[in-house]
Amino acid sequence: MYLPMLIPHESKTVKMMSNKGRKCLLLLSLLAFVVLGVVNGEYLIGVGSYDSTGPAAAVNLMGYGNIQQNAAGIHFRLRARAFVVAESPNGARFAFVNLDAGMASQLVTIKVLERLRSRFGDLYTEENVAISGIHTHAGPGGYLQYVLYIVTSLGFVKQSFDAIIDAVEQSIIQAHNNLKPGSIFINRGDVDNAGISRSPSAYLLNPAEERAQYPTNVDKQMTLLKFVDGESRESIGAFNWFATHGTSMSRDNRLISGDNKGAAARFFEDWYRSALGKGKSANRSNVDGLLLIEKAQTIGATGGQPCSKTSSRSSKVRINDGSLFVAAFCQSNVGDVSPNVLGAFCTDTGKPCDFNRSSCNGDDTLCVGRGPGYPDEILSTKIIGDRQFKTALELFKSAKEELTGKIDYRHAYVNFTDIEVELEGNRVVKTCPAAVGAGFAAGTTDGPGQFGFQQGDTEINPFWKFVRNLLKKPSAYQEKCQKPKPVLLSTGEMFHPYAWAPAILPIQMLRLGQLIILSVPGEFTTMAGRRLREAVKETLISNGNGEFREDLQVVIAGLTNTYSQYVATFEEYTQQRYEAASTVYGPHTLSAYIQEFKKLAKAMATGVKVPRGPSPPDLSSVQISLLLPPPGDLPPPGINFGDIKEDVAQPESKTFKMGDRANATFWSADPRHDLLTEGTFAVVEKLEGERWIPVHDDDDYCLFFKWKSENYGLYGSATIEWEVPEETKPGIYRLRHYGSSQKIFSPTEYFTGASSAFTVS
Ligand SMILES: *[C@@H]1O[C@H](CO)[C@@H](O)[C@H](O)[C@H]1NC(C)=O
Ligand SMILES: *[C@@H]1O[C@H](CO)[C@@H](O)[C@H](O)[C@H]1NC(C)=O
Ligand SMILES: *[C@@H]1O[C@H](CO)[C@@H](O)[C@H](O)[C@H]1NC(C)=O
Repeated sequence: MYLPMLIPHESKTVKMMSNKGRKCLLLLSLLAFVVLGVVNGEYLIGVGSYDSTGPAAAVNLMGYGNIQQNAAGIHFRLRARAFVVAESPNGARFAFVNLDAGMASQLVTIKVLERLRSRFGDLYTEENVAISGIHTHAGPGGYLQYVLYIVTSLGFVKQSFDAIIDAVEQSIIQAHNNLKPGSIFINRGDVDNAGISRSPSAYLLNPAEERAQYPTNVDKQMTLLKFVDGESRESIGAFNWFATHGTSMSRDNRLISGDNKGAAARFFEDWYRSALGKGKSANRSNVDGLLLIEKAQTIGATGGQPCSKTSSRSSKVRINDGSLFVAAFCQSNVGDVSPNVLGAFCTDTGKPCDFNRSSCNGDDTLCVGRGPGYPDEILSTKIIGDRQFKTALELFKSAKEELTGKIDYRHAYVNFTDIEVELEGNRVVKTCPAAVGAGFAAGTTDGPGQFGFQQGDTEINPFWKFVRNLLKKPSAYQEKCQKPKPVLLSTGEMFHPYAWAPAILPIQMLRLGQLIILSVPGEFTTMAGRRLREAVKETLISNGNGEFREDLQVVIAGLTNTYSQYVATFEEYTQQRYEAASTVYGPHTLSAYIQEFKKLAKAMATGVKVPRGPSPPDLSSVQISLLLPPPGDLPPPGINFGDIKEDVAQPESKTFKMGDRANATFWSADPRHDLLTEGTFAVVEKLEGERWIPVHDDDDYCLFFKWKSENYGLYGSATIEWEVPEETKPGIYRLRHYGSSQKIFSPTEYFTGASSAFTVS
């Protein structure tokens, strides 16, 4: 503990007393503990977690830019998971949020900070809050503010946005309210076979002597923090950073999913729950199988029934208020790292794609990466998630190195349009206004883009030039500045109807003892990330007067606080593959980051502040939304929402076994009326005596909720599909659906229905 930090800021304390009396008392008593030295741990720690799933129908999924990839159900839910650490009740602190979304969004950050300010005063600000996206490509889009990032979602989608800011805010509030003395342990280890380079030809352009310092062309290291309650000595959470893309689910998937990182978090939290023996798991029943089948046959489907707004919540299997255990898998320097570890192959010939361009006889759309479960993407997601989970669990169990020392942070806004960067030998170069090149349109082996483009293109054909010029002809300055990138879209020069790309980016450094977290607003490639980490570490050690040691750990938190696409090295940039074509501020983008982060590092090492820099714009008032809300509902005559449409089909053996899939389809209404946040659309119930006990909800990997709109959206069908998992106990089960509907000019109504019973043996 650091005494200077224990002296409360007078004015702040007084202000808090007046409006936050009770909380203040708690904080003061904590402070007393700290001052008396009766503290079990180095820091105050708290974790939180809240549902951020968002609209499960019609909204474009963010990531692949595939206009046809609209949500149609949920595989498992998305969450915001947060930890807060503080030196003392009034000492330095920061909040880190791991968000199950494609990436962070400037507008989300702005609005969350506004809410935190009105709740907590200046306890949480842009400087000490980090919101980091996991980079799933299966989360609802439309929550970003710059045009290029909301084209396929038909503009801004308020429902996606609100779900995310609510969840981020709630997760921080929980973590704040849960703050207690505790210890944090750090551990590191490799994750095998969870990521490969998807642009190895670009990596090879980095200097040989630099490459020789690293064993592989992707970073395999996972860095994990374990949070331990100071009093009970029980663990309350684990957060780790590891780089691999959230592209195990393909560009054709339409179910909301946290992809491999969301899955890993689900597995870890479920492991903890079962290890503790907490949760509502049903007891073993020893009933004779034939009797069960006979009994099940007497229990038919129930028709649709009205229920309350919160009914689905009481069917949740997990308690997710951050009071139990929060596990989060955070993204890192992910730029060129694919989870499709079997490699990329041509869909026509089955042969590997062209090494330099990832195309097949010139066609980029035929080259597709394969995950370890190929062709089953659900299985690939599970395997890549499981590999991260297993490593995290090992690191968690064996974590011994305790973090001690200061909490600190530095943050700056930087206008990346024209940063002067001083390179070695006093050469001064500049960054450029944002622009994407032709290789951007080619997409990657994780999700091929437009036909007619290839990664590595340094020319644009006359037709596309013509089309481009209709939108915006890049300035001569821009074309020269971005070279050798052929400018496809000069997004930094496009302002209609509003800005197409960010100019101002937040950069941030968080310190937790001998751990430094670098919040970067984009996707650094492997080597770009290594260079940034090394530069920061070197700067801290050489300026820190012994405060920072050689064992200092530096991790990159990717896609944090806002989004500005990729950052490739200068050498990689020359090849103009996808990552380079998406490095929007030109060839010296990385050098600019390194220069600006070194300023933060030097300021931290020498204990001085940094200038705040220019504010990023809040574009909320000019957003355009073209996605239509659901029309009013009207079920077919004689049908109630929640009625069974297709009952569960009993298998020939009259009983389901592990690995079988049971499904039932219900008449239902658009799931956007009420997102059932912290609730569930789907439940598997088990009969215990006379009572039906929920054993799985739509947050389970084994349970799928699939939505299909019919008759212009007047109604639709909800299919609930359960893949019977290994640990299932023999017994009588049924599938339940919850939903909500809204007739025109009427309030939202809630309904539920259940399938006929069936047995699992
Ligand atoms: C890739 O491109 C480089 C540079 O143009 C060339 O030397 C190399 O032979 C190419 N590799 C393959 C496998 O085509
Ligand atoms: C960023 O800098 C450029 C060049 O100086 C300037 O034209 C632009 O207005 C700045 N952007 C913002 C959002 O302030
Ligand atoms: C539901 O299960 C039945 C029987 O196994 C199968 O024929 C049908 O295709 C499944 N329906 C869906 C939507 O998965």
